[in-house]
Amino acid sequence: MGKIDVVKHILRNANHGQFVNGSGGFAWAPSNVALCKYWGKRDSELNLPVTSSLSISLGNKGSFTKVKQEGDVDRYILNGAIVGPETNFAKRLKIFLDLFRPFGVHYFIDINSNVPIAAGFASSACGFASLVLALNKLYDWNLDKKDLSILARLGSGSACRSIFEGFVEWQCGDDFNGMDSYAVKLDYIWPELRIGMLVISTQEKSISSRDAMWHTVNTSPLYPSWPKQVAEDLIHLKAALEDKDFSLFGEVAENNAIAMHIVMQAAQPAVVYSLPETMEAIAKVQKMRAEGVPVFFTQDAGPNLQLLFLGQHEAAVLRSFPELELVLPFADSKVKQIVLVDENDVEIGVSEKLAAHIQGRLHRAFSVIILRERDGKVETLLQQRSAIKYHSANLWSNACCGHPMPGESIVTAAERRLREEMGFGVSLKEIGDFTYRAKLINVDLIENEFDHVLVGFSDLEEIPFSISEVQDYRWIEVSELQQELKDYPEKYTVWLPPVVDLLVRKYLQL
Ligand code: PMV
Repeated sequence: MGKIDVVKHILRNANHGQFVNGSGGFAWAPSNVALCKYWGKRDSELNLPVTSSLSISLGNKGSFTKVKQEGDVDRYILNGAIVGPETNFAKRLKIFLDLFRPFGVHYFIDINSNVPIAAGFASSACGFASLVLALNKLYDWNLDKKDLSILARLGSGSACRSIFEGFVEWQCGDDFNGMDSYAVKLDYIWPELRIGMLVISTQEKSISSRDAMWHTVNTSPLYPSWPKQVAEDLIHLKAALEDKDFSLFGEVAENNAIAMHIVMQAAQPAVVYSLPETMEAIAKVQKMRAEGVPVFFTQDAGPNLQLLFLGQHEAAVLRSFPELELVLPFADSKVKQIVLVDENDVEIGVSEKLAAHIQGRLHRAFSVIILRERDGKVETLLQQRSAIKYHSANLWSNACCGHPMPGESIVTAAERRLREEMGFGVSLKEIGDFTYRAKLINVDLIENEFDHVLVGFSDLEEIPFSISEVQDYRWIEVSELQQELKDYPEKYTVWLPPVVDLLVRKYLQL
């Protein structure tokens, strides 16, 4: 079987394998980092691995991908910029899309990713996984996760793991056609686990993982020892997850990464991804450990590192690595269940967040307003949403907004999101609520929210916001904001005017 036969086989029952043009498909997939790596293929056409591997998905680090049938040529956008057909990125995407291309069809693909592209942070993993999920929605195939994982694998091996959140195992399988080679979600949950992305270089890597794998398998005299190493590491990693034994977990993950790089470095000629700065950072990690802070690293096919540590050591690790991009794999906000409500805010069920926004179903939400007093005037804190947000990107809005998880109180959820987005915690008080429905600009999503509005105070001079959520902030006097909303509505989110209105009427009583 070639790739196209695998696709045909999987789609044979899916909506009769039809490519019926829906209005557009839109999906999110997290990036993932392998704790026990996939290195080496037994079939390079189908991306079938020599060994199984185990990964953790990276919470809110990943890609949103939108796909539509459109025009007479394919058009690709990556993080807001057009990608020319001559680039490697476009060529790779086109080859993959050809597997899903009825005669005469062209695609418009819009990918927004918050992981550095091609720098060894598995941007292709979340890219291909979100593309497959988006195609599944566009064509209404309703495939199960196993089939989605197999399709994502055809784009990039590690993409098959990005179909899931949390800990994931890619079972290598032994079928020639790879129909038993897909990822499964492991049930371990470890909310205290932290991952720190340490960006050492965002340059495109010198050699792609595909070429480096091939070269290692074929020329490294150490490669025959790799499958045995992986088999042992998988057993120990699962034991560590079972017992939440962080030292064992970190040691096995770190040793597995070191072993992979040693096997590559023994290839002829050697494949070397580490830069001098990588080695310096590794030495720093080892020194911290010697001083009693349990922090470990893993390294993919690139110079960057991912640090592994627990919440209780977050402050110590961030002090030593202030530039670290922190990931909370079990607490981040993108793929979440949200609470569906009726017009009286009575719970009627739960739904996956994106699905609820696509269907425009009424759900529970909150908006946080942070105030301070300056020279006798009341000022409010605004955030500018990050450029990679899946909706309302770059727009200015109130201090933070979000959705409570099922079972979570409004105040707890709002205080949690304020910490996650703006980096500070204050106690919040609910001042009222309102319901609104609006089609979002630039995406096929509908906000339909029962919105609880909460107020808190802060005098912080600097707001330590999270760059994956927010790009800027400013304080503005409330009456000035009211005027701005009238003069420049296009700069603000659709829900900000009713939030400000409620603040003024019910709280400030102006
Ligand atoms: O899926 P690819 O071709 O990007 O290869 C991924 C290889 C590693 O990131 C080094 C290991 C892994 O298991 O993710």
